[in-house]
Amino acid sequence: MSNSVLYHPGDGYLAWLQYRRITAGTNVDQYAAYNHLVVTEQDDVVIRSAVNELTQGMEGITGRKVSISGKTETTPSIIIGTFGTGLAIDKSFSTGVSDAVKAEGYALQTDSITGNIAIGAATPAGVLYGVFHLLRIMGTGGSVHNLNILENPVNQLRMINQWDNMDGSVERGYAGKSIFYEDNRVTSNLQRIQDYARLLASSGINAIAINNVNVHRVESRLLTEFLPDVAKLAAIFRAYAIKLFLSVNYASTIEIGGLSSADPLDSDVREWWRTAASEIYAEIPDFGGFLVKADSENRPGPFTYGRDHADGANMLAEALKPHGGIVIWRCFVYNCKQDWRDRTTDRARAAYDHFQPLDGRFMDNVILQVKNGPIDFQVREPVSPLLGAMPKTNQVIEFQIAQEYTGQQRHVCYLIPQWKKIMDFDTQLQGEGTTIQRIVEGDVHGNPYSGFAAVSNIGNDTNWTGHLLAQANLYGYGRLAWNPEMSAEEIAMEWITLTFGTNELLVQTILNILMNSWVIYESYTAPLGVGFMVNPDHHYGPNVDGYEYSMWGTYHFADCYGMGVDRTTATGTGYTSQYARINMELYESLESCPDELLLFFHHVPYNHVLHSGKTVIQHIYDTHFEGAERAAGLLDAWKLVKGQVDEEAYQHVANRLAEQAEHAKEWRDRINTYFLRKSGIADQWGRTIY
Ligand code: GCU
Repeated sequence: MSNSVLYHPGDGYLAWLQYRRITAGTNVDQYAAYNHLVVTEQDDVVIRSAVNELTQGMEGITGRKVSISGKTETTPSIIIGTFGTGLAIDKSFSTGVSDAVKAEGYALQTDSITGNIAIGAATPAGVLYGVFHLLRIMGTGGSVHNLNILENPVNQLRMINQWDNMDGSVERGYAGKSIFYEDNRVTSNLQRIQDYARLLASSGINAIAINNVNVHRVESRLLTEFLPDVAKLAAIFRAYAIKLFLSVNYASTIEIGGLSSADPLDSDVREWWRTAASEIYAEIPDFGGFLVKADSENRPGPFTYGRDHADGANMLAEALKPHGGIVIWRCFVYNCKQDWRDRTTDRARAAYDHFQPLDGRFMDNVILQVKNGPIDFQVREPVSPLLGAMPKTNQVIEFQIAQEYTGQQRHVCYLIPQWKKIMDFDTQLQGEGTTIQRIVEGDVHGNPYSGFAAVSNIGNDTNWTGHLLAQANLYGYGRLAWNPEMSAEEIAMEWITLTFGTNELLVQTILNILMNSWVIYESYTAPLGVGFMVNPDHHYGPNVDGYEYSMWGTYHFADCYGMGVDRTTATGTGYTSQYARINMELYESLESCPDELLLFFHHVPYNHVLHSGKTVIQHIYDTHFEGAERAAGLLDAWKLVKGQVDEEAYQHVANRLAEQAEHAKEWRDRINTYFLRKSGIADQWGRTIY
């Protein structure tokens, strides 16, 4: 871990790995008995990380020195290792238990006679996850008597995407500069990378793509000239059981390869990629593979050569296949040069229209990465109809932990409730119960690969995420990817307690702030599923017509009569037809369409009455007045914990919440004023609108 001299609890650097002395009244006395570790194998890098973590964690939590040996010398001890590496571990578990533990899983048990706690796993990665589990129990003050835990991750791929550029900037980064790059070079501050790897592994992450999906000229050279640096980063992540991936420029053959083409069917192009892959694997034998944004937002791709996405992805997959690598091909593909006058083109349709017909054409080491919604990480969108609609193709869901459209880490917006809602959505694609969760975990189609990917929210700010409370999204993402059955509250409680301790008022206050934050953010920003009412380019702050007459395909069509996008099959763009019949009917009909998505699917007059009994226009006014008030309420609630939390952390959060409260008023007044002027309909309660 980084020098604790420089970092202290209030600055947020240690995040949820505080390992602080647990206060009396919890189970701290139990923990104090454990100051001896038994490690049945010591020459594995991941096991070494696990031992370091456990030593550091135990010493921090108990305040006592921990000794380490290869066999049980004193009881009670903590015994860790993979099955079959020593008597101490093997006699701790029945074969039934060890058989039930899968590749990255672990068993964690307390022996009722000796009090020994054993963590056994099939792989070193499992041991590491088990160690973090034990530290989580102790970090939250739980009992370690009678532990009898067996966990396997639900999702196979649990990936983070960095949108970091080599000039040190982070695309959609809201927490400072890149921790990976500066001045067009890979950083020499490897300690910070290691600390990031610890944070990721502790939440269950097992893969990372270390550069932005928009790959420019210099980043293209990560494949070649910078490969030795990439190998150093891979070594750091390897020690935490995290596989490293690179985002690649589809046109690398032209950009850095000296060829004149990037045609996926051209033999020279294919050969170039095969050689590039071999060179990478010579340096990084366990390299994960490539992440690709192609034919999307002006990035090059196979369309230039009259080829399709399957041709492009398969070419790369073929180069990686002999080495066990995979291609993760993004489905964020749409016409970004649309004419706003054209009412027939619908950006929401694009991913499905492009990819669904290609089902069955992708090699088995290609995974399609599909954004959770059809547009772009808005505060509220329906679930992407492409998820689950390609039974013969590997898919992962893509979330955005970075709060591009949800307050940019200046506003608090705990995103786990949003993601839970998405995971619970029943696509009905294979009958009732075909939830996104089951699709994403690979349970429905049984394809070789599945899981989660998400855009990271960290930068080189001391506290990693800009807003201290935004750490909950990074932590929560990993925990949810590991086990989507966890509730948003459970995850929040873990994060709060690990980060801030067990003070009840404090825990409850932060929990309330987090759990209400998404709905509050939605209420003062985007009503009823309409999105993109933001300032162009940087996407912060209100601008109702910011994108209305642009080429990006994100419109609300507000006029003096009404607003919303008609995406019905009967009279609109036909987007609803991309869902299974029962969902199509749900969205198609004004009667059944849920209020929260009404304007996503329908264009309605301002006096249309919602299921809530309010008109659309009154809903807009009410939610914006309430939302701004509730945002101010977050600050008021936080003020009550002054003195209960480290002063530096207190001030930091207070400042962010004050900014949010002010900015929420700006949102309220801009949106309300715009729609009052457009509709000419007064607020029923006569409140001030400008
Ligand atoms: C959004 C975001 C871009 C990003 C893109 C993507 O449009 O604003 O910065 O490149 O998503 O996901 O590729």
